[in-house]
Formats: sequence, C-alpha cells, structure tokens
Amino acid sequence: MKYGERRNHPWQDIDLRDYENHMCLDDVQQLPKLNEIMKEQFIAYPAKTVMILGVAGGNGLEHIDPHIFDKVYGIDINSDYLAESVKRYPQLLGTYETICCDLSEADVILPETDLLIADLLIEYIGYDCFQNTVKQVKPSYVSCVIQINSDAAFVSASPFRHVFDRLDEIHHSLTEHSLSEAMHAIGYHQRLRSELALPNGKKLVRLDFMRPHKEK
Ligand SMILES: C[S@@+](CC[C@H](N)C(=O)[O-])C[C@H]1O[C@@H](n2cnc3c(N)ncnc32)[C@H](O)[C@@H]1O
Repeated sequence: MKYGERRNHPWQDIDLRDYENHMCLDDVQQLPKLNEIMKEQFIAYPAKTVMILGVAGGNGLEHIDPHIFDKVYGIDINSDYLAESVKRYPQLLGTYETICCDLSEADVILPETDLLIADLLIEYIGYDCFQNTVKQVKPSYVSCVIQINSDAAFVSASPFRHVFDRLDEIHHSLTEHSLSEAMHAIGYHQRLRSELALPNGKKLVRLDFMRPHKEK
C-alpha cells in the first residue's frame, strides 16, 4: 500500500508489521499463544482440508504438514497480508491457497472444507455473518478462538495502539454462551472448551464445535 493511501475497511489500513509487533509485545503475547493453539487445532481432527478465516500473515502455518492436508485455504480481507503469508511458507506451494474477500459481504463464495478455523476473527464479522460462512463452508469441525477481556478495552495498551483505532467501527462484543447458541442454531454442538491466560489479564478462549452428520 502506498503511503497516505486509505482503503475502505479498517483492517486494510493496518500494516502487517504494526499488527504483528503489537501482538508480540511482552504484555500482549497473543501471536505466540495463537501459534500454540493453531498447532493443536491442526491435529485435533481427522481433516484433509482446512480453511483459516482471518489468516493475516500466516501465523501458525509452519505447523501444517502437507502430507496430512491436501488443501489449506487462507482467507483475509487484506491482500498484502495474504501475499506475505504465501511468501513466508514456500513449503506449502500447491497446498496453501489464499482467497481475498470481505466475509461480511453477502456475495462471497467459499469452497467446502473438513475443518474451519476462526481465531480472533468473529469479533470483526459478528455471529450472523459467521453462521453464514459456516453454512457455506459446511465443515465437520469448527475451531474458534475469542478474546475475553477483563477490562473495557479490546485492544491492549501498546505503542501501536493508535494503529487499531478504526477497529472500533467494526468490533462486535462476543460471549462464549452466545457463540455456542449461534452454532447450535445451525446444527453444531460444542465439543471442547479451553482457555489460555494472557499477561495483561485477558484470556483466549478456544471453543470447538462439530456437527453429527455432514450434509452435502
Ligand atoms: C486479529 S487478526 C486474526 C489473527 C490471526 N488469526 C493470527 O493468528 O494472528 C484478524 C484478521 O481478520 C481479518 N479480517 C477482519 N475482518 C475481516 C472480514 N470482514 N473479512 C475477511 N477478513 C477479515 C483481518 O484482516 C485480520 O487479518
């Protein structure tokens, strides 16, 4: 993106380096924690295909074994993030494919996969849109991470804080209970809950869902 250019969606205005530097700060620590969680998400279920919503720069993709997965889709609204994610993992050539789209648009078309991962993404699209995405991708397994805040601010204090100011425009407050209800309403049952504490008093909560029978 050229200096001074402003795009439409708030996430298209955030430089990947600013995002990743913020997420790696000692008192934020979200990038390494999400990386650990993704390693577990990839091996938790008998999936041959996986879609990662809000893949950003590809954090965690080093844990993909191309002998296990036939196809890995990375979805994001920011094309610069996706280009960087492809550059970082040359070993996934032929396995990893990116799709640049705004998941909140009604006309998005996505392929079907066995496993769907959405870590710190549902906050930006809301329950209805997430339900629509799940219904389209028809995964047998869904694994999500949401952030639970102990204070009001969903973006942690940091020297990069101002970079995220426009995220207020699109942020949805989530609860575990409402997410479980939204998934239940489209035929998915919760099968796992785990949480990881962050240094700043926040926590990452992982919720996994599955549907009893895959309808095609
Ligand atoms: C907090 S980051 C996700 C963190 C990432 N999963 C990780 O492990 O580092 C949210 C990501 O979702 C993407 N995103 C937000 N809203 C979106 C939308 N409407 N459609 C597609 N991608 C979106 C952003 O561009 C960003 O890369």
